[in-house]
Amino acid sequence: MKKYFTILVLLIFTAQISFSQIKKLFNETPQQKAERLKWWTDARFGMFIHWGLYSLPARHEWVKSHERLTDSAYQKYFDNFNPDEFDPKKWAKEAKAAGMKYAVLTTKHHEGFCLFDSKYTDYKATNTKAHRDLVREFVDAFRAEGIKVGFYYSLLDWHHPDYTMDDVHPQRPADGLTNVQKDSAYERFNKGHDMKKYQQYLKNQITELLTNYGKIDILWLDWTWGKNDKYGKHPEDWDAVNLIRLVRKLQPGIIVNNRLGLDQDGYSDGGDFQTPEQVSSKELLPYKGKYWETCQTFSGSWGYYRDENTWKNQRELLDLLITSTANGGNLILNVGPTARGEFDYRATRALDSLAYWMHENNQSIYNATFPPAQYDLPDSLNERLTYNPTTKKLYLHLLNYPTSGELILPKYNGKISYAQFLNDHSEVPFKVADNGKDLVLKLPKAKPPYVVPVIEFSL
Ligand code: GLC
Repeated sequence: MKKYFTILVLLIFTAQISFSQIKKLFNETPQQKAERLKWWTDARFGMFIHWGLYSLPARHEWVKSHERLTDSAYQKYFDNFNPDEFDPKKWAKEAKAAGMKYAVLTTKHHEGFCLFDSKYTDYKATNTKAHRDLVREFVDAFRAEGIKVGFYYSLLDWHHPDYTMDDVHPQRPADGLTNVQKDSAYERFNKGHDMKKYQQYLKNQITELLTNYGKIDILWLDWTWGKNDKYGKHPEDWDAVNLIRLVRKLQPGIIVNNRLGLDQDGYSDGGDFQTPEQVSSKELLPYKGKYWETCQTFSGSWGYYRDENTWKNQRELLDLLITSTANGGNLILNVGPTARGEFDYRATRALDSLAYWMHENNQSIYNATFPPAQYDLPDSLNERLTYNPTTKKLYLHLLNYPTSGELILPKYNGKISYAQFLNDHSEVPFKVADNGKDLVLKLPKAKPPYVVPVIEFSL
């Protein structure tokens, strides 16, 4: 009897622990959440825009941290910021042509510089040679093209006088110190810095951004260290719980990413979606069935980087977009405009190539997700399937176009009724294989003029 009693007590105890580990901040049902996010999960494809003072040094948006620059060394970029070619209407047209349905702009990046006219700082675009609220113009231009509007906002701030030391701060102590030496260097720096005041600054600016520009569709907060990072910042440093409450109060319909880090504290609804950053298309698989968006650059850096030449080619970009959709996620692809405020020729070329593909093939992306399991193809084929649950069309993306003129779909007999190329609706004939189970598609030897041709199946 005593044994059973002990087991019972133990069971109740563990149940309480796991119960207390999942906490909720809001009363939203999973279905309500799905409805709130519907436009975004249907959209699948967005544009990220990283633009700030770092576009002048043109060697990574982290240049201030990488090179441990002081405020005064960095001041020349503020003094010389003069984006004479800034015309967000052009940006919006390029985004739209490439098939991007939403855009997220860095209103403030880690350097602390604000592209918007904030009451709470002088470190802003209106005080530079730009003399304008660049966020306002972005919002107006993108909305006019029917593109949803999002704000990226950096939680880190390498300029604010109250922001304290951490292990990526430009003024961090030299490498190789013991923890004791580090701690005392942090203490010295942090004298007179008050994170409580900085938290208020965050709330003030978020309030400005979420009240002065109409309906904002996405808020992309960036970022929080891992739970055990001793020299990092954590949700309580941002007063994250109250910050997210404020966000949801000001814009109840808004979609927020997960980088406030509230999941570390056991909250299941502190953010709406996960943000796998710069991962390979293969690494996207485990995210299936969750809300997620992979953020990716054309090259290695988010901010304009003049001398960086590892740009992804069209096939790699399409692979990311298609593989994201095929695993039920989104892709947000970044452009880092130049200091003059233009997309540079490499970005424009990449966007044009996506526009060409999306023009004829977008139906395999929008409103699409992974198909029901019965349609799965063996990994060895290395082709991707997407599926539109409303129209019940299945899309096969030929990342590896067969030169033999044939493609075998294992165990597909009876599963499809008609097949055509999506780009021109030309028929793709098929027959049942000798084994009676597989289907054999007959493909033209000359590949259709798309890096990744798409076949549309009616079921
Ligand atoms: C990282 C970087 C940052 C970039 C962001 C985009 O967290 O700190 O520079 O803005 O990722 O995902």
